[in-house]
Amino acid sequence: VWDVRKYVDNLQSYPQINNIIEGYHQNQLIALPTETVYGLGANAKNTDAVKSIYVAKGRPSDNPLIVHIHDRVQLEHFTHNISRETEILMEALWPGPISFIVPYKTGYLSDLVTGGLESVAVRMPRHNVGREILKLVNLPIAAPSANLSGRPSPTKYEHVKHDLDGRIFGIIQADEIDEGIESTVIDCTSFPFKIARPGSITAEKINEILPNSIIDKKVDIDKPIAPGMKYKHYAPTQPVTLIEGGLTKSINPSSLKGIKIAVIGPKTIEPFIPENAKFIPLSEHELDIKGAHRHLYDALRIADQLNDIDHILISGFERNAKTMALMNRLDKASGHNIKREDEL
Ligand code: TXA
Ligand code: MG
Repeated sequence: VWDVRKYVDNLQSYPQINNIIEGYHQNQLIALPTETVYGLGANAKNTDAVKSIYVAKGRPSDNPLIVHIHDRVQLEHFTHNISRETEILMEALWPGPISFIVPYKTGYLSDLVTGGLESVAVRMPRHNVGREILKLVNLPIAAPSANLSGRPSPTKYEHVKHDLDGRIFGIIQADEIDEGIESTVIDCTSFPFKIARPGSITAEKINEILPNSIIDKKVDIDKPIAPGMKYKHYAPTQPVTLIEGGLTKSINPSSLKGIKIAVIGPKTIEPFIPENAKFIPLSEHELDIKGAHRHLYDALRIADQLNDIDHILISGFERNAKTMALMNRLDKASGHNIKREDEL
């Protein structure tokens, strides 16, 4: 683990910075912080490096990776025909928590990155450490979330260590991450654009920058545009039920029939939780969506590690444009097992 927290403003003075830079150049796997989640980074130009990402994560190799850059000129090597509309959005939203799917040009990157697709996903993160590392390394870095496949994405370096210790070369430890859910993925290979994965940058926000660039705002879960959307994700090992509309009154203890539960939700629902149940707070209140994003994956990991719990309940948030990304992750965490509180 490289703890760079005291050097965030001047990473070049971190005593082991050269080990990190050389590690990437020697095609090693190194986890790095971004503002969304930690990524498991490797040199996107080298097939062995990219292959080892899939192996370390236990990830199916038909699920393509996002290529991380620090400067848009890097795109010239491995993309082509990027539309003017796409450039406008990149200009407005990068560096930041959004990945663009654009036409792929072969020859420069390892083709394993795209899993054989004719498009490639690209992102310029804004996290001060992640961005500076990308600059100093000056390679296109392929990086999926730095979790084992099927586990929640890592929002703390401890999560990365828990999942990947012994399988990777190193972890760059930084301060807590500020977004907490994965980047918005927008498919820019045809116009109007499509949201392939909702994130904190919403379709509404994108349409403010470029009116009518996204018309169909729904993510169709039966027809995933992002291959990764078809895999089961984020699910704890215990059964999970998502309570549509959230808890609004006390859970009747007799309805639990001796089942030990943990409840995940905003702090405002704590009074509704039976005494013997475990409560894991997600946010300050029902409207604190940023807080819910930030704590979601840690909460799912905490719930997963409670071995005396039979069932996890998640108190849902009102569905609207702002909660779309959050509810997308909660839908998946529950395996789409969704009930109203009266049906519990
Ligand atoms: O916030 C994030 O995006 C994080 C950080 C590390 O940047 N990365 C991340 O990567 O979440 P990953 O691999 O866990 O998710 C990438 C998603 C997957 O659903 C994948 O299928 C999709 O992007 N994707 C990648 N390339 C694609 C392409 N060419 N066409 C369609 N979907 C693509
Ligand atoms: Mg992932």
